[in-house]
Amino acid sequence: MSKRPSPLPAIAVFGQGIIGSRAADHIVAAGYPTKTWSRSPRERSDFEADPVAAARGAAIVAIYLKDVPAVRDIFSTIEEALGPGTTVVNHATVDYETTMFLVDRCSELGCDFLNAPFTGSKVAAGNAALVYYAGGQAGVLKRIRSFLEVTSTQIMEVDSPLAATILKLTTNLITASTVQALAEGLSINLAHGISAETYLESIKPNACASVLAGMKVPSMAVGDFEPHFSLSNMLKDSRYMLDLAERAGLQAPGIANTAAQMQKRDEQGEGEFDFSILFKQFEPES
Ligand SMILES: NC(=O)c1ccc[n+]([C@@H]2O[C@H](COP(=O)([O-])OP(=O)(O)OC[C@H]3O[C@@H](n4cnc5c(N)ncnc54)[C@H](OP(=O)(O)O)[C@@H]3O)[C@@H](O)[C@H]2O)c1
Repeated sequence: MSKRPSPLPAIAVFGQGIIGSRAADHIVAAGYPTKTWSRSPRERSDFEADPVAAARGAAIVAIYLKDVPAVRDIFSTIEEALGPGTTVVNHATVDYETTMFLVDRCSELGCDFLNAPFTGSKVAAGNAALVYYAGGQAGVLKRIRSFLEVTSTQIMEVDSPLAATILKLTTNLITASTVQALAEGLSINLAHGISAETYLESIKPNACASVLAGMKVPSMAVGDFEPHFSLSNMLKDSRYMLDLAERAGLQAPGIANTAAQMQKRDEQGEGEFDFSILFKQFEPES
């Protein structure tokens, strides 16, 4: 654990969804003077309804917003409160262009920027066990490492803000594709009278075993789609992945198919369920 500065810097946390709310709890518990903001009001004593007021005076602005429109809109709104002495830390999974937008605007405004998307879902956030992929200007990570350690168990420093975005998106590509494959495999087993427990037991000693399989096979089998990571969020990430492939002149047929399946479920109003609701594509009424 890195040494924390004294006094602790003021923090503004933007986004109070599944992850931001849990991250803010840990930041507050660690003693940082904190303000939180979210589009929908939250019942927290540190909640500030005005985004500019939330950002003003903060040494670190931590962003756990949903997607590209949310990040761009809120960043533009709070720009007047940003400048030298502020470090903007983006934790949202955004696309190539928005990563570069944040790099450029922070540079123009004279504030520091670190791109630190993460892996780890609702449970990991609750346990302060996120893993950050962090890329930014030299020295920024070193300066705020002790702050990031409050919500994480590992920080992987990468070459640039863009590398952090690309690594985050292409690891999510594996997660989305794996759940699509697990849903497919599970539905075939169930149709042949083999239980989810037996399927999972067969996966465990196999090279394809994963923490993800242990989490998602049992919950899919009982139709528990309480959101740990929402379908709408995985869908937007898959669109950002497809954009990365296109920029590189590549096809990405695997994630393109999974994205199409997620879009169908989203159109049926299932966007705020866990993305493992992909399993429902194999039910007869689908
Ligand atoms: N959950 C995970 O397992 C996980 C894992 C890795 C990365 N991530 C990434 O981390 C970020 C946060 O994830 P999350 O699961 O906490 O998301 P979430 O539960 O969907 O929360 C998103 C937050 O963004 C706000 N928001 C949405 N659209 C907005 C808009 N147009 N303008 C302003 N605010 C808006 C929401 O406000 P309202 O409450 O008003 O809707 C909420 O505060 C996302 O980029 C996600 O891809 C999540």
